[in-house]
Amino acid sequence: MRVCEALKSLVDFFARKSIETPKTDAELLLAFVLKCKRLDLFLNYERELSKNELELLRRLSVRRGHREPLQYLLESVDFFGQTLKVDARVLIPRPETEELVYQIQQRLQGRVVQKGLDLGTGSGAIAIALTALGCCKQMVAVDVSPEALDLAYDNAAENNLTERIRFVCSSWFEKVSGTFDFIVSNPPYLTEKEFQEAQPEVRVFEPKSALVAAEDGLKDLKQILKDAVEHLIPGGFVVCETGLNQHKILKEYAFQCGYKRVNSTQDLTHRERYFWAWLN
Ligand SMILES: C[S@@+](CC[C@H](N)C(=O)[O-])C[C@H]1O[C@@H](n2cnc3c(N)ncnc32)[C@H](O)[C@@H]1O
Repeated sequence: MRVCEALKSLVDFFARKSIETPKTDAELLLAFVLKCKRLDLFLNYERELSKNELELLRRLSVRRGHREPLQYLLESVDFFGQTLKVDARVLIPRPETEELVYQIQQRLQGRVVQKGLDLGTGSGAIAIALTALGCCKQMVAVDVSPEALDLAYDNAAENNLTERIRFVCSSWFEKVSGTFDFIVSNPPYLTEKEFQEAQPEVRVFEPKSALVAAEDGLKDLKQILKDAVEHLIPGGFVVCETGLNQHKILKEYAFQCGYKRVNSTQDLTHRERYFWAWLN
């Protein structure tokens, strides 16, 4: 089978499986199998696939047909300029979270702070991006899942950042001591209903414990806001990525916790998705 034929049959197959972006997925998967850039596919349209390449392509396309996320098949994702390994141990970092990193970078206005904390680090995406961007000298990256932390550590090692990021296995602040210039978290915040309505890629393949929180998605966000009070330096801030329609409750709760100032910022689709709070 030639590249052009493989591409056509992949696109048709993915479309039949109701995959949202059949052409993109087909091109990225074929480029992965052929170990080439996506663009190179079009320069090698007539190239014959070897038996081994065909076999690998067949296996991966069946998995994609079952709606396993493309990033798990490609085993990596680009996040704010870093290449991160991802697999079923961790949530796939999202563009919304890149936007959160960008907004933190903007908020720091070029200052390099001493110490940041990333709660629920998953693949390590936020901690790695902020450290690589030079936003802070040191970061502590926490997750309750030892499997996720193993992967996050590998990602930090790949990006030469293990000297600057310390990984801690802890349920939120349980094993965290000290104070931080900022605390960032993208915690589980989906409601059970939102999770049940999600695409199979999310519902079937990503770790549910990374996505869903009790109390209408608010339990972990509230816990983080409450406990962060003890771990911020004067002038420091906590910022969390949130679900939709959670900011009114979070604002009231933050004031109850003792925060003096809060702010909500929007994602690229103009929805309130990032909740910020300061003690002074
Ligand atoms: C939405 S994912 C975010 C992953 C990563 N920070 C990102 O933005 O791609 C939430 C993460 O929080 C972790 N988590 C869930 N409950 C936790 C808890 N009680 N303490 C620490 N981490 C927790 C999950 O294991 C998961 O890695």
